[in-house]
Amino acid sequence: MSETNQKSPIKAVGIIGAGTMGSGIAQVAATAGCVVKLFDLNQAALDKAKASLEKIMTRLVEKGRVTLEEKTRIQDSISYVNSLKELADSDLTIEAIVENITIKKKVFQELESHVSEACIIASNTSSLSIASIASSLQKPERCVGIHFFNPAPLMKLVEVIPSIQTSEATLKTSVKTIQNWKKVVAVAKDTPGFIVNRVARPFYGEALRIYEEGIADFETIDAAMKTQGGFRMGPFELMDFIGNDVNYTVTETVFEAFYNDPRYKPSFTQKRFSEAGYLGRKSGRGYYSYDENGKITQR
Ligand code: NAI
Repeated sequence: MSETNQKSPIKAVGIIGAGTMGSGIAQVAATAGCVVKLFDLNQAALDKAKASLEKIMTRLVEKGRVTLEEKTRIQDSISYVNSLKELADSDLTIEAIVENITIKKKVFQELESHVSEACIIASNTSSLSIASIASSLQKPERCVGIHFFNPAPLMKLVEVIPSIQTSEATLKTSVKTIQNWKKVVAVAKDTPGFIVNRVARPFYGEALRIYEEGIADFETIDAAMKTQGGFRMGPFELMDFIGNDVNYTVTETVFEAFYNDPRYKPSFTQKRFSEAGYLGRKSGRGYYSYDENGKITQR
């Protein structure tokens, strides 16, 4: 792991997907001084990302963490676009769309037809193979995993994942850039779940099994892990925070990628919650219920 700061040539950044992760990564890049274009197919997602940044930046000004000038500068350096072509002048693109290999590959192929030869094309995937995503490109050596954690502006760690096709230059520039963005980099090999998501699978899985076996309810399990384990959030609060759809898909991918190793077996409870639309904070209901500010209203 390293935090050393060297200059990075990355100035223009394109982000694909304006959801939870894309909007947070856009804020990080803009705060670090990059010019950012945030792309989404869904106009509502772009509008939400813009409104949410306004709210976040206003709170930061109120707390005295950023000046009004800085708030204006950060917000003015992000443009919200609904065509991939707009990312043509990017030095680096980071994709944060749905965790689906077929869709990601399609988007990467189209993206490559718009950007310059030198542009680094990264994915924020939590669990998919970077080698497989890279194989959709004409120049797979420019592809790398750059995996932020949620919420991206607050979480210090970023995993950088070179695949077997990734060039040394791509890896070096990616690491330097993320360090310039004031993050701590952990370089990990291209294996399912990388480091953190692999260690975290049994944490969620075992909590779900404890609930399914009727040993304790969500709240008791969360309280136990926070009180004794020292976790800021219990496993159910954390799954609601991440999104049950996203968390379930990651578990399923890691399970299948490790040839159905039972250590990573997904849970029916989480599958049903996800299918029912009980996604967690973002849908207002998951294992707990939430108000519009993301506060738990009912346990
Ligand atoms: P999200 O559901 O909040 O946002 C995804 C966004 O992508 C949506 O706004 C959607 O409209 C857009 N989108 C979907 N297909 C698209 C397409 N073909 N072209 C353009 N935009 C498209 O998802 P979230 O949570 O931000 O996750 C995104 C990626 O980041 C996934 O690969 C996920 O595994 C990864 N990730 C998620 C974390 C989390 O805690 N939620 C943490 C770290 C990584």
